[in-house]
Amino acid sequence: MTAEIIDGKAFAADVRGRVAEHVARLKEENGITPGLAVVLVGEDPASQVYVRSKGRLTVEVGMKSFEHRLPAETPEEELLALIERLNADPEVNGILVQLPLPKHLHEDLIINAIDPAKDVDGFHISNVGLLATGQKAMVPCTPLGCLMLLREQLGSLSGREAVVIGRSNIVGKPMAQLLLRDSCTVTIAHSRTRDIEEVVRRADIVVAAVGRPEMVTADWIKPGATVIDVGINRLAPEEEGGKGRLVGDVDFDGVKAVAGAITPVPGGVGPMTIACLLANTLTATCRAHALEEPEGLTA
Ligand code: GUN
Repeated sequence: MTAEIIDGKAFAADVRGRVAEHVARLKEENGITPGLAVVLVGEDPASQVYVRSKGRLTVEVGMKSFEHRLPAETPEEELLALIERLNADPEVNGILVQLPLPKHLHEDLIINAIDPAKDVDGFHISNVGLLATGQKAMVPCTPLGCLMLLREQLGSLSGREAVVIGRSNIVGKPMAQLLLRDSCTVTIAHSRTRDIEEVVRRADIVVAAVGRPEMVTADWIKPGATVIDVGINRLAPEEEGGKGRLVGDVDFDGVKAVAGAITPVPGGVGPMTIACLLANTLTATCRAHALEEPEGLTA
């Protein structure tokens, strides 16, 4: 068996197209242009790349993009004051503070200062609680992107065995909540899970989000399972002769011989994250104006 390759790049372009259509309608019928503010503190190179592509794609779907770049040594009060201003600004419908933050800033304090209605990352404790209790929440972008790919691939997820590998607040935990909401039987596996291979081998759906290059191998996978690889790991250049190849948490070449479907790295989950950020910004805008929400772009 050779797995179907799930084309996240194409699906993300489709999602952005649907967002753009809805944004155009909002402008025409309601005179509203959604706005997304991205805050970057410091000069982390990977964060700079993400922020640049977020800004470009925000403008491409017809939204306003506000970028705030602050020096690494910015005092906490100054960052909190900026978030207060963005919370109060009617032109700003979504606020994203790029993580990780420099060490002297308290991530929880900063995230929880964002107005939950503008928290397009879905990291505020209110949104975490709303998601966990099955209420209307802002849903973290990467798990939302994975869910969209799974629904597109499998249709109904009801009754399926799902194993999420990784228990982070950004991916693992919200992913498990979303799968549970879609009536999967959900297991979260992590670094302390005993016989992890056997646990994963039960799964119809595997979501790998651990940040360990090519950890999930073919013998962990039930034949025909759907495998979603959230990992983006750059291998050391000396091993690869040059820049260092990007790989996921899944041994793609081995697993694709066993799985039913699999996302590649790059071109799988990655592009879906930004597409879902734009979808969330649109959703937040519609909710702020008590307008109908876009269909198929929320959980
Ligand atoms: N850094 C890496 N991924 C993310 C994300 O999804 N949101 C934010 N705010 N920062 C990140």
